[in-house]
Amino acid sequence: MSADIAKLTVDDKAVDLTVKHGTIGPSVVDISKLYAQTGAFTYDPGFTSTASCESKITYIDGDQGILLYRGYPIEQLAEHGDFLETCYLLLYGELPTAAQKADFDYRVTRHTMVHDQMNRFFQGFRRDAHPMAIMVASVGALSAFYHDSTDISDPQQRMIASMRMIAKMPTLAAMAYKYSVGQPFVYPQNDLDYTSNFLRMCFAVPCEDYKVNPVLSRALDRIFILHADHEQNASTSTVRLAGSSGANPFACIAAGIACLWGPAHGGANEAALKMLEEIGTPDRIPHYIARAKDKNDPFRLMGFGHRVYKNYDPRARIMQKTTHEVLNELGIKDDPLLDVAVELEQIALKDEYFLEKKLYPNIDFYSGITLKAMGFPTSMFTVLFALARTVGWIAQWSEMIEDPSQRIGRPRQLYVGAPQRDYATVASRG
Ligand code: SDX
Repeated sequence: MSADIAKLTVDDKAVDLTVKHGTIGPSVVDISKLYAQTGAFTYDPGFTSTASCESKITYIDGDQGILLYRGYPIEQLAEHGDFLETCYLLLYGELPTAAQKADFDYRVTRHTMVHDQMNRFFQGFRRDAHPMAIMVASVGALSAFYHDSTDISDPQQRMIASMRMIAKMPTLAAMAYKYSVGQPFVYPQNDLDYTSNFLRMCFAVPCEDYKVNPVLSRALDRIFILHADHEQNASTSTVRLAGSSGANPFACIAAGIACLWGPAHGGANEAALKMLEEIGTPDRIPHYIARAKDKNDPFRLMGFGHRVYKNYDPRARIMQKTTHEVLNELGIKDDPLLDVAVELEQIALKDEYFLEKKLYPNIDFYSGITLKAMGFPTSMFTVLFALARTVGWIAQWSEMIEDPSQRIGRPRQLYVGAPQRDYATVASRG
């Protein structure tokens, strides 16, 4: 990595800051010594101009609409590979050989069962509990059931905990869904691939055989690939920060799930579908476009806009194609939600407000239509996002733990509160 110098003067202190250059993408100005040299902090709420770490995992070019996992374009991985191959790539940095892939699939498959007392853990929830609430709780609870893989200083335990989470997320997600609809849990089947296993655990019932639709399984597996990782987004940064204190991996991933739930982040797929349902018909679109542009109205077009992509989210293009594939397979010729979504996108992408602010559809705009058509309730959409993103969180967490320069994350602040003052007795407070 090459380096240059940037010069900065703060009050009367002139400092030389090292500029570091990566493989591709923006360079960084190393400010780690700035406070010691000048007594001043930098200020960047929302981290719009801040790099929190070095990483080799995922690269995004927001202007070009490029997304690479370990250097491979998302379009090629989604087209040619499967989700577990992407998991291997994100975790180990290279595409697996046939033997490595077979071994990885075998190991993941044989960790898909959860401790049977998890069933009793679920009984504590109300039946109408939001599945994301159940996921935050049950993934955090894994550290109680699998305490033998929580010592983060032991690479072997880190690997076991990682495999356990990748393998068990589909089982827990399916249990959250089954619990919410009052149906019995379905155990994983070792002769099924990862995504087919998940579909069967969600939709099979004891009263009849369940046959996985290979077109739907392939489509959902591709959707998982699209959601697997995305650089230092809010939930990944949450996982890294939680991990920097030495918290166990299950607790860190539970923290990531909690952050992902927000409607500005992973909760947007659920919010986007609800928005399309509220709009209802194309003739009502102009009213909602006007609301989205109205500064006094908190309404936003859910599934639109992105902190990094100032061009079309490459995942949204693949998502849109997958939506048509799934609707065709299911014989859904005329989906009113899709009609609204396509019309809304066409109107928004010609509107000056959206063009000027570079607001394009993101991955969450079309995913809800696809998942609803597959039979998932809206409340499960973010659970599926969390299922897929678990491998990205783990890869990023592992990279942080293995970084010899890693320290606990502890940002500072610009204090604008009261200066020091003496205690006032109740009698003197007026
Ligand atoms: C994900 O970071 C990641 O990588 C996330 C993710 C991942 O894979 O991990 O890609 C997944 O979270 C995708 C984003 C899903 N969220 C939504 O679809 C919710 C709707 N989108 C917005 O809330 C918003 O666009 C964000 C949160 C996604 C991005 O917010 P930013 O970067 O902080 O941008 P901003 O809120 O400062 O908006 C910039 C301007 C504002 O107008 P001004 O104040 O400058 O006049 O654009 C406007 C906003 O009002 N704006 C929108 C809008 N999004 C931004 N106006 C209408 N509708 C929108 N959707």
